[in-house]
Amino acid sequence: MSEEAGNIDVVVFEDGESLARAVAERTATLIRASAKAGKRPVLGLPTGSTPLGVYRELCRAHREAGLDFSNVVTFNVDEYYPMDPGSPHSFHRYMWENLFSHINVPPENIQIPRGDVPKEGIEEHCRAYEEAIARVGGIDFQILGIGRNGHIAFNEPGSNRESRTRLVTLHAASRQDVAPGFSGQENVPTEAITMGMGTILDAREIVLLAVGEHKASIVRRALEEPVSPEVTASFLQVHPNVAVYLDPAAASRLTRPGVARAIGEADVPQQRERGP
Ligand code: PGA
Repeated sequence: MSEEAGNIDVVVFEDGESLARAVAERTATLIRASAKAGKRPVLGLPTGSTPLGVYRELCRAHREAGLDFSNVVTFNVDEYYPMDPGSPHSFHRYMWENLFSHINVPPENIQIPRGDVPKEGIEEHCRAYEEAIARVGGIDFQILGIGRNGHIAFNEPGSNRESRTRLVTLHAASRQDVAPGFSGQENVPTEAITMGMGTILDAREIVLLAVGEHKASIVRRALEEPVSPEVTASFLQVHPNVAVYLDPAAASRLTRPGVARAIGEADVPQQRERGP
């Protein structure tokens, strides 16, 4: 029971927790189906505050229900540059603390762009990242947050729809949003390595998550305004298999009648499944 905005299923959950449970359940379903089919599920993973609930639920599913990650392959969407993987600010640290240390995904199946490659090695590192994704057959399920400037991963306003994994300069708004964690914007790295828009749009299934009133106006722009590189999340409108999961606050500025309907967890639509 959801409506489609173009190709996008927009689903409004009661709260962030039920949203997180739904994403974790979809992920678990994919992992189990892949195991049955003898395939390796490939997940694209974000960082930030939004996916924390999803990671908590996945850890719980492993701990309590024995969800097996031994066959899972993961690619994170971005990392600051420069950034030591051991730094408390790194997305490496975030992923190990919030997910990887608590599940049985083999370390060799985990890919995160490295913020500690020398500048002259970045291009090669980015090319290798793309090749690694291609080698495992592409990303099956890409989970995304959205920045207040509409970025997905660190595809900042102005990013090209065909862009691939690359070094980017962070937008002032992106640096401002994470400034408290760095004790001030001046300490936030000015660059990052990010999967490109083209990389993300190649994923077979995508779910974009947004929670909170501070995301409401950018969610409306991404879903209801024409596709524009100024709001890179709007590129998702052209993807054939995207769902947007919102809490009521993040959905509060949607104006187009019928774009989204509040539904209960039991009604979550099965996304159109391709792949495993
Ligand atoms: P957040 O970040 O989940 O911390 O709000 C989202 C993003 O910038 O992609």
